[in-house]
Amino acid sequence: MAPAPPKARQLRAIRGMHDILPGTSDHWQTLEDQVRAVLDSYGYGELRTPLVEVTELFQRSIGEVTDIVEKEMYSFTDRGGDHLSLRPEGTASCVRAAIEHGLLDQAQRLWYRGPMFRRERPQRGRYRQFHQIGVEVFGLGGPDIDLEVILLTRRLWAALGIEGLQLEINSLGDSAERATYRDLLVAYLQDHTEQLDADSRHRLGSNPLRILDSKNPDLAEIIARAPSLLDHLGAASRTHFETLCAGLERAAIPYRINPRLVRGLDYYNRTVFEWISTDLGAQGTVCAGGRYDGLVAQLGGPPTPAVGFAMGLERLLELLPSRQPAAPDAYLVAFGADAEAAALHLAEQVRAALPELRLVCHCGGGSAKAQFKRADRSGARIALVLGEAELASASIGIKPLRGAGEQQVCPLAELPVRLPALLQAAD
Ligand code: HAM
Repeated sequence: MAPAPPKARQLRAIRGMHDILPGTSDHWQTLEDQVRAVLDSYGYGELRTPLVEVTELFQRSIGEVTDIVEKEMYSFTDRGGDHLSLRPEGTASCVRAAIEHGLLDQAQRLWYRGPMFRRERPQRGRYRQFHQIGVEVFGLGGPDIDLEVILLTRRLWAALGIEGLQLEINSLGDSAERATYRDLLVAYLQDHTEQLDADSRHRLGSNPLRILDSKNPDLAEIIARAPSLLDHLGAASRTHFETLCAGLERAAIPYRINPRLVRGLDYYNRTVFEWISTDLGAQGTVCAGGRYDGLVAQLGGPPTPAVGFAMGLERLLELLPSRQPAAPDAYLVAFGADAEAAALHLAEQVRAALPELRLVCHCGGGSAKAQFKRADRSGARIALVLGEAELASASIGIKPLRGAGEQQVCPLAELPVRLPALLQAAD
């Protein structure tokens, strides 16, 4: 006897990138539908952009000396020699697309969704492929639109039934204010260089504001005593921030001003904000964003103020109350060669008559016992039964699978009228 061929090596998904299985994908769809309904109600239009962009787009927008660009991008040279990256976020692509398609001659309220890619160390709430829904508004520079996007997020939490998120806000001022502050901060930190860790020392020369965001507990005290950018805002930035705070108070949205909130991407100015959950462990930020008035011009477009945010869907899903995945309403079984041959065609007729019905048609034949077992396992409330007799008389058997009740025979033509009541009775 010939030896059995060696078992083929099994392949697995890439670490930090996950399959979303039926059942779980139901939750995703519900989440996405609810978010979309809220975005529609505020007049935001969906923008879909490619998953791959030229690497330079992210270098010039997110910033050369950020964790994302320095360490986390999936970048490659394609066969034509172009330097490309899987998108690590959506803002840069939206700006690129808005410039490219000439969308910026009027205000735009846009949203997007989809997978993003960052080669971070995977842990709970932090993945290498994760999903965001984000919003970007172009052409509006006042604090009113900052307030609108925050009001929109509050409405999202209410629609999704998520409670207990905390809003943190800060202002990063304009670039001149940040440059002055940066000098102050560097001077202060240089007095404490020996206490800084290697990462912060590296950042001191390149991106010192990011040191404020360090999670190293040994730095907590130095950071707490560092000068605050909020104390060094000019009049216009201060008024912008105060008007936003007044708007939040008027809308009864509790918030905390966090002067250390600097964000991990370089394009922000003035307002930045994060919604944080205490129920998610270390990765508690479910939604984050802010204003980026310089980015459009920086990427070659007309000077255009902009504000937006993105939320992490994996993190939001963890906060949603769990729901049973939807089972089919009905499962069609067929007995006998002719009935089996006719089953798929009959199922099509039933679907045409009842477009809302979730109907699974048994395939593969088998004994009545085996087919009813499958029907039962599917979670369906009723079985539609097609035997030779039903086939001959253009009728169908209806057998409740959950509650009590006898099998009934129903002329096929009457099914659309009778089925809703029968399904209700079978609950
Ligand atoms: P971000 O803070 O990098 O901002 O990401 C926004 C959200 O995406 C985070 O708050 C988190 O919920 C989720 N997220 C980020 N990285 C991961 C990960 N590795 N695994 C799971 N979830 C993650 C941005 O991306 C900006 N583009 C937001 C923005 C839009 N600012 C203005 N407009």
